[in-house]
Amino acid sequence: MESVLMHAEAASYPQHDAIIMDGNGRWASARGLPRLAGHAEGAKAVRRTVEASKKLGLRYLTLYGFSMENWKRPVREVDDLMHLFRHYLREEIAGLENEGVRIYFIGDRARLDPDITSLIETAEQKTGDNTELYLTVAISYGSRQEIVAAARQLAKEVEGGKLAADEIDENIFLGRLSTGHLPDADLIIRTSGEQRISNFLLWQAAYAELVFTDVLWPDFSGEDLRRSIEEYGRRERRYGEINN
Ligand code: IPE
Ligand code: IPE
Ligand code: MG
Repeated sequence: MESVLMHAEAASYPQHDAIIMDGNGRWASARGLPRLAGHAEGAKAVRRTVEASKKLGLRYLTLYGFSMENWKRPVREVDDLMHLFRHYLREEIAGLENEGVRIYFIGDRARLDPDITSLIETAEQKTGDNTELYLTVAISYGSRQEIVAAARQLAKEVEGGKLAADEIDENIFLGRLSTGHLPDADLIIRTSGEQRISNFLLWQAAYAELVFTDVLWPDFSGEDLRRSIEEYGRRERRYGEINN
């Protein structure tokens, strides 16, 4: 009986929460400010959310910061975002390191400036021994591109005789994705009222619960995170089965 209860309690709490941080531009426009001001305020919301995640006992937090498709935005905006990203990496890593947060980055690093890539590598190394919260930041990330890269990698392994085509199963495939270190997403939150996935964790979200909130990302608070987790707790996850 006790173990059933424990299982039920564990199931009502997400282990892996992923967030599509949307609405920075609209937050700024509503105040007559340039979009960059919204992105800068969004960076503060990242800090709040990481702290709140730790307090709420989440184990894995994955944040969508810049999509593959976001490269199509005007050069000025992309430059501003990359500048902010650099700033975040320089300013926040020591804090994360001290707070027990381990940071990972997923996405196509080849498109990033080399100085950003090296900041990313340093951050991953410096926080490499931490275990309290696993923070994954998706930058230059696209889920379709990630899946195609995994397929290409497997094809090369088969071509090279390292793997038989018939050996490929879900686990083998998962191992070639950039999220091999993560369990599937339990909860995906999207801010700003949009209700779509925008090429985020397509494989990993196969059975995720989706929570959409009208709050714009720069306004997202620890309390909003807590409410989303509460909403998750009210959902019944069935995975195709029948629950009584
Ligand atoms: C999210 O805010 C941040 C990124 C996608 C980089 P947006 O910049 O998409 O803000 P809106 O959707 O235009 O309000
Ligand atoms: C999704 O937001 C990407 C990130 C939050 C990083 P977008 O604002 O780019 O998504 P669309 O274009 O509205 O789908
Ligand atoms: Mg947007």
